[in-house]
Amino acid sequence: MFRRSGICISRRYLNIQTRPILSIPYGTGQPTHETRSHYLPTSGNITPGISAIEYYQRRLEFSTKMPLNSIAILVGNDIKYSSGSVFYDFQQNNDLYYLTGWLEPNSMAIIEKGANEDDISLHMIVPPKTPHSELWEGPKSGLEGAYDYFNADYVESIDNCIKYLVQLTSRSKYIFWDSPNKSDSKKSFFSSLLSSTGSTNVNGTIGDIIAKSGKFIQPLSAKLAEQRAIKSDSEIQVMHAAAQISSRAINKAIAKVGSEFPFSTEKTLAKYLEYQFVKGGCDKQAYIPVVASGPNALTIHYTRNDDILYRDEMVFVDAGGKLGGYCADISRTWPNSPKGFSEPQRDIYEIVLNTNKKCIDMCDESKYNSLHDIHEFSVKYLTQELKNLPGFSAVTTNEVARTLYPHYVGHHLGLDLHDIPSVSRYAKLVEGNVITIEPGLYIPINSKWPKHFQGIGVRVEDDIVVGKTNDEIFNLSSGCVKEIVDIESLISSGKVTTPGVGEELVILDI
Ligand code: GLY
Ligand code: MN
Ligand code: MN
Repeated sequence: MFRRSGICISRRYLNIQTRPILSIPYGTGQPTHETRSHYLPTSGNITPGISAIEYYQRRLEFSTKMPLNSIAILVGNDIKYSSGSVFYDFQQNNDLYYLTGWLEPNSMAIIEKGANEDDISLHMIVPPKTPHSELWEGPKSGLEGAYDYFNADYVESIDNCIKYLVQLTSRSKYIFWDSPNKSDSKKSFFSSLLSSTGSTNVNGTIGDIIAKSGKFIQPLSAKLAEQRAIKSDSEIQVMHAAAQISSRAINKAIAKVGSEFPFSTEKTLAKYLEYQFVKGGCDKQAYIPVVASGPNALTIHYTRNDDILYRDEMVFVDAGGKLGGYCADISRTWPNSPKGFSEPQRDIYEIVLNTNKKCIDMCDESKYNSLHDIHEFSVKYLTQELKNLPGFSAVTTNEVARTLYPHYVGHHLGLDLHDIPSVSRYAKLVEGNVITIEPGLYIPINSKWPKHFQGIGVRVEDDIVVGKTNDEIFNLSSGCVKEIVDIESLISSGKVTTPGVGEELVILDI
């Protein structure tokens, strides 16, 4: 089964005093083993933990679903600007990234299947190296890098993409492609209203070529989703590292409650977590976290994180780091008092924790459960447990599902936080799926509910690898404390004792 190794903290390859002389003739637009060996210590890996061979195998596997004489066109993302020339952090199109590992904007990858099954080529159409762009933005991989490092069979400059695409489409019968307008499910009504038909931008022009080609067009992303939903051993190893690093960061945050310098604000705690994710070895935080004191947790997407952390309330955190593109997604809730949980906090917490554990136990292939089956179970179990609490005896599953627990039990996790939405919630889970299990309870401030439970919001979220059998269910975030006794002992001791927990992780041995 999966290699469940931990992370190994190491400085052994590193001369931190003197910059080594580059052993290759040119720089690249993203880290490589040659240019950033501390980040990619394993020769042959294109991104952390993922080898060039694995990227090649992913393309081969995808090509088995393509008919003869077909092309799959993956259009990368461009840089988005917040204001003027101030840009946001670049986010690559994850389908393109999954199949190539390429991280530069304004690029395309095309997988071509020719007239027989093993006639598979990778075309990469990328920005060329230019003195001007390299002066302003630093080294680019260029056509040379696409060929040398990313194993493209054919490379072309993005400046010639139209001519190149016309050639490729004219010799193919089938085209796999997602129209950017259709695939951008989060495009707001407002921005759709303002956008033109798109025929003047690159994507629109590509759309025109494809539309005018008269070939059979099929969606690409949904086809690739089946493959992305089952993680390889290497992907699980990277996700395990991301989840372990994130777990340690959250443990350290919990321990601060009983320390000499507890956090006073949601904002400082949020930024502490982000720093600890990176210090522990992640690239960045995977998403804007929820850091909520007390009733702020009743807002499911509370991301303002701008309040005081009150001592008599619980701290609610939903946060995770990202490594090599793979996300961790962990929620924990803990008392912000050195005395530990109050009685009502403990009552609600125990119900959510027990539900989390029962749901995790359902994550094996042999039980034929879908995410939806687990969700339905979570609603019923939360209801049944709540009924034992004073003031909740009449609570119904409907009230739980609509009011007290208004979100879903989980989602697939991977390169995207809510990975591959086209995989149905009703599909049976299979070995190698990675999903979150995240039941919660959020008691509104409303006289309908018992007074001393009002304003308590709790979620316990773990990242789970679906096993073939029950024994093979693997909790990637098991290092993040969640038992009441462990949380209280962490709070009262005021420190995390895991060896190496305070070190800056310079080399991640994956
Ligand atoms: N962090 C968002 C989620 O749990 O789905
Ligand atoms: Mn989450
Ligand atoms: Mn989640």
